[in-house]
Amino acid sequence: SLAEKATKIAGELEYSPEQVREGVKEFLRLMDDGLQNDERDMTMIPTYVTNVPNGTEKGVYLAVDLGGTNFRVCSVVLNGDTTFTLTQSKVAIPKALMVSDSHSLFSFLAKQVADFVNEHHSDHFSEDPEHHLHLGFTFSFPVDQKAINKGYLIRWTKGFDIPDAIGKDVCALLQKEIDALGLPVKVAALVNDTVGTLMARSYTSPGKAGTLLGAIFGTGTNGAYVEKLDRVTKMTSASAKDVGEYDTSTGEMVVNTEWGSFDNALNVLPDSPYDRALDQNSVNPGIQMFEKRVSGMFLGEILRNAILSMKEDAGLFATSAIAEDSILNTPWSIDTSLLSYIEADSTKDFSVTKEQLQKDLGISASTISNDEAQAVKTLVHAIGKRSARLSAVPIAAIVIATGKLSPPDQPLIDGLNLKDLSLVEQGIEILKSVITGISLAAPSVNAPPPSIQDEPIDIGVDGSVVEFYPGFEKYVREALRDVPEFGERGEKRIRMGVAKDGSGVGAALIALAAKMQYSQ
Ligand code: BG6
Ligand code: GLC
Repeated sequence: SLAEKATKIAGELEYSPEQVREGVKEFLRLMDDGLQNDERDMTMIPTYVTNVPNGTEKGVYLAVDLGGTNFRVCSVVLNGDTTFTLTQSKVAIPKALMVSDSHSLFSFLAKQVADFVNEHHSDHFSEDPEHHLHLGFTFSFPVDQKAINKGYLIRWTKGFDIPDAIGKDVCALLQKEIDALGLPVKVAALVNDTVGTLMARSYTSPGKAGTLLGAIFGTGTNGAYVEKLDRVTKMTSASAKDVGEYDTSTGEMVVNTEWGSFDNALNVLPDSPYDRALDQNSVNPGIQMFEKRVSGMFLGEILRNAILSMKEDAGLFATSAIAEDSILNTPWSIDTSLLSYIEADSTKDFSVTKEQLQKDLGISASTISNDEAQAVKTLVHAIGKRSARLSAVPIAAIVIATGKLSPPDQPLIDGLNLKDLSLVEQGIEILKSVITGISLAAPSVNAPPPSIQDEPIDIGVDGSVVEFYPGFEKYVREALRDVPEFGERGEKRIRMGVAKDGSGVGAALIALAAKMQYSQ
C-alpha cells in the first residue's frame, strides 16, 4: 500500500545515532587530512583571514555576493558599535549565465555593480585611486586562495558550469570587467559566504569566546571556522608551496572547509536509490556528495525521485489529474520551499499539502486523496530530517576538533587557569560595584563560578534551509545529543544564530581588514 511504501522509503532515508557517530569520526579524519595535504576533496582552504572582528570596525564598503539564491550588490556602513546599515539590490542570476563563459558572467556582475554605484554612490566617483570604493567579493565556490584578494577557482558547484573560469583568479576576472566600465571600485577581498557569515556574526554579537563557526544551509552547504595556524600544516610547514603573506600575530586563521565535498567516497554517508539517481543526473557526478544530501538545491530533487518511485511501485497519483507539463517530470525543478510548506502543514485534511502540490507540481488538489497527501508528507519529513541530522556531523566534529568542549588542562596565563580567571572576574565585578556604589547584579561570593564547560559556543548560520525548514535546528540538536562527546550538556552550549544576509557585512569587514593590511 501507499503507506507501507512511504514508510519503507522513509526507512531508507533514516540516519541513525550510530551513523551520526561514524560520520563525526570520518569528518575529523578528513579535516586533519585536508589541513595537512593539498588537493583533497574536502579542501580545508586557508582564507588568509587571521582576525575576527569585535564590533568596533567602521567605514563604507561595497560587497557583491554570488553563489546563493540571489546575486546581490550591497553597500555597508559599519557604524563601529556592532550595528551597520545595509543598502542592497538583488537579482536572480539568469540560468543561462550559470552555464556560459566567464566574460558573460563577470561582465553581468560588473554591470550590476555599475548600476548600484550610479544609483547610490555617485558621490564616490573619483579619479584618485586612493578614494576608490573598496569591494568585498563574496564568491561562494571553492577557490585556491593565495591572498586576501586573490583566489583561483578550483571547481564550480550548485549547478554552475563555466569551464573557462576554472583555474582563473576570480578577483582579477571581476576587476577586469569593472575597469572596462571605468568604475572607481577596487576588488579588495575575496570571501566565501561561510567566512562572511562568521565575520558578520562576530561583529554583531561579539562574546568573550568569539564566534567559532559560520555555516550555510541554503542552496548549498558549507562551513568556515577559526583554526590554530599550527594545525594548518599544508600552509605552515617548511615544504608548503606558493604560500602568500599573512599575519601570524593571532596564531589563528579562518579555514573554509568546503564540507559539501565531505566523504565523496561514500565511506560513511547514506546512499539511497533517490540519491544515486540525483547524482547521475547532476553536472558533477561523484562531487559534493554531502551537499547533495543536505542542501536546498538538492532536497527537491531527492523528493522528486522518491515520488516517481512511489508512482511507479505503489500507484501514487494514479487517479490524479496531472498537468502535462508537470515539473514532476523535469529534473531539478522542485524548489525546497515546497518541502518547507508540506513539513509545516498541520491541517487534518492536508489542505496545505494538496494546494502546494497543485501549485508547484500541477497536480489538481481535488484529485489528491488524504492517503496520497500523507504519503508525500512522510517522504518530505524523512528527507528534511535526514538533512538536518547530517548537518550535525560537521558542527559536532568542528566543535570537538577545536577543543571547545573540554577546558584546556594547561593554564592560559602562567599560574592561572580559566576557572581562576572567572573567580578573578567576579572579584573585579564586586570591586566595581563597590566603587560605583551600584550593587546590582554583583555575583554572590558563595555561588560556584560558572564553569567553562557551560559557556556558550557560538555559531552563525544562514541560508534558506536553516531559516525556513520547520524544525531544522531541533533535529540538528537531537543528532548532536547522539554524539557522546556532546550529550545534553554539550548540545545546550551550542548557540546558533541566523546572521541574516550576513555575508555582505562579512565581506565589508574583510575588505576593511584588507585595506588595513595594504596601508601598513
Ligand atoms: C545569503 C547570503 O543571505 O544566504 C549569501 O548573503 C549566501 O552569501 C546565502 O550564499 C545562502 O542561502 P541561499 O538559501 O540563498 O543559498
Ligand atoms: C557550495 C560552495 C561553497 C559555499 C556553499 C554555500 O558548497 O562550494 O563554497 O560556501 O555552497 O553557499
